Amino acid sequence: MDGNGRWAKERGKERIYGHFEGVESVRAVMEAGVEWKIPYISFFAFSEENWGRPEAEVSALMDLMGRAMLQELDTFNAHDVRFMVLGNRDRLSEALKADIDQVTAATAGNRGLTMILFLSYSGQWDILQAAEKMAHDLINHPGQAVRPEDLSRHLVTAGIPDPDLLIRTSGEKRISNYLLWQTAYTEFVFTDTLWPDFRREAFRQALEEFASRDRRFGKIK
Ligand code: FPP
Repeated sequence: MDGNGRWAKERGKERIYGHFEGVESVRAVMEAGVEWKIPYISFFAFSEENWGRPEAEVSALMDLMGRAMLQELDTFNAHDVRFMVLGNRDRLSEALKADIDQVTAATAGNRGLTMILFLSYSGQWDILQAAEKMAHDLINHPGQAVRPEDLSRHLVTAGIPDPDLLIRTSGEKRISNYLLWQTAYTEFVFTDTLWPDFRREAFRQALEEFASRDRRFGKIK
């Protein structure tokens, strides 16, 4: 969800104003996803590296995320949306963890769109914590063959399908430590649109571009 800070700066406002507007884009994308029957949509809201931002921005963002998820709870239930947060919980405040647990539990029975917020997440952290668990398994079962699925089931995304499409906004063309393992065969769409301007029509265009791709998964048709 890149470009919130620049969007605000272009309007002579504080960066957090861009994050507020970014929440509106999350809602627009979620509503379109429900309507178009997309089973999973995830949002990279805060990376492990983002902890290095100025304290004021980090705490304003954490505050915003807690409030936004509580505010959206009724909308999630009205649209049958299951809400999940994935990432390194160790670094989150007790208050935010309580908000996450409340919204997750209240939407756990919903069967429509699964909306995942990646928070305090990085792909390398995820692979490392999975490798640590896999190493533990191997100590108990020495000599056992190791397959990609063995690592996948220890990632925080275990049981969730790998993404078909990854959209990066604001003209950046990097993966920035997002889902490194899970994006092995993901299609990428890059757009110059800043995240606060990324609404229903921009999402539709990205899906249209995705639909025109020829996916071979390393094979020949
Ligand atoms: C990247 O823009 C955006 C973020 C670091 C935060 C995104 C988070 C939200 C919009 C909150 C969503 C929460 C819920 C619960 C719906 P940037 O700050 O890197 O902008 P820049 O690239 O212009 O500097």
